[in-house]
Amino acid sequence: MRYAAITGWGMSVPERVLTNADLERMVDTSDEWIVSRTGIRERRVVGPDDSTTSLSAAAARQALARADLTPDEIDLIVVATCTPDQFVVSEACLVQAELGGRAAAFDVGAACSGFVYALSVASLFVQHGIHERVLVIGADTLTRFVDYTDRSTCILFGDGAGAVVLEASDEPRGLLSTVLGADGAGNRHLYAPGWGAVVPESAALFPEFRPYLQMNGQEVFRFAVRAMGDAAAEAVERAGLGFGDVEMLIPHQANARIIDAAARRLDLPLEKVWSNLDRYGNTSAASVPIALAEAEATGRFAEGDNLVLVAFGAGLSWAAGVVRWGIAGVKRTVPPGGVGTAVDGGGRRIATGAAANGRAVEVAGV
Ligand code: ACO
Repeated sequence: MRYAAITGWGMSVPERVLTNADLERMVDTSDEWIVSRTGIRERRVVGPDDSTTSLSAAAARQALARADLTPDEIDLIVVATCTPDQFVVSEACLVQAELGGRAAAFDVGAACSGFVYALSVASLFVQHGIHERVLVIGADTLTRFVDYTDRSTCILFGDGAGAVVLEASDEPRGLLSTVLGADGAGNRHLYAPGWGAVVPESAALFPEFRPYLQMNGQEVFRFAVRAMGDAAAEAVERAGLGFGDVEMLIPHQANARIIDAAARRLDLPLEKVWSNLDRYGNTSAASVPIALAEAEATGRFAEGDNLVLVAFGAGLSWAAGVVRWGIAGVKRTVPPGGVGTAVDGGGRRIATGAAANGRAVEVAGV
């Protein structure tokens, strides 16, 4: 059986910080309201030189460096985003142009659920033996589509990108189960009219028209608690595990109250639930891979530990999966005459092999 282990990971956020105090000067709101209703204290916002592509490429370079791979060694790039820099050229192609290499490239659109959707699609390519090494990115620059006169939405969003590298393993690593779902009829609760090929009449009448996110916050809130709780529980069950076997839940970072309520629904202690919402707000498709990269850096999980990734978003959509962390069973074949390395989960070299007499050698992970 083939699995798709995560052998590299990385994240990138813009430098510019937008604090609650900054927002107090822009709309009728307060730090107290924002913190108590959402848990967000500040978020990172793109500047003129940032883009979905630049953030994605920065996160990808980190992930590739951790995996000790070059862009030439990647077979496929999948980017989850609802804010691509262009609509004709896929974001994945723009990222490939930035990184180099000739990987196949396409995008996945599932808003904030996008990274977990993309991870499940990308894992299938590896599990079925179609590709050996796949780069999966979740990236969004939603603040470009936020109406900074609407206090009910502008406080929520930030920008960023996160990335992982998947490699074939013959041990159960990477995604062990997946739950994907959508309720298309719920699209009216969270959407951006005029952000696509259907142009509203107002666009012709008002040339300055810009599509902004529209949201029924309370409806999305209720949906999110139910969807995250149920999808996470189903993913754990499908992996043949119980929550006692789970080291950490890494949820989409939209609202601290949603995360707390979902954790209560799952009877999961908050120490096992990762949150960095206070520093980044909702970064849409980037939120889960950024959370994963930051959670890993704390050393809270290691080789063989089970994590649950879970997200919800526009669509309405939801996605969850159990990931077994680590690189056991990952083998790298060194081309004839070449030198290859295997790395551990922390990006450290654990073995180096050189091909002798034109014969390929295998360098196995731990
Ligand atoms: N500052 C001060 N007051 C505010 C603000 C603000 N920033 N925003 C709204 N209010 C006011 C409202 O006008 C309302 O006033 P009223 O009672 O006088 O009418 C009051 O606060 C309560 O508003 P609610 O909407 O009931 O506030 P709620 O507790 O539901 O919090 C929030 C609003 C934070 C938006 C919450 O509903 C939420 O987080 N929902 C989920 C949203 C979400 O996660 N969206 C992302 C989906 S992911 C994707 O795919 C993009």
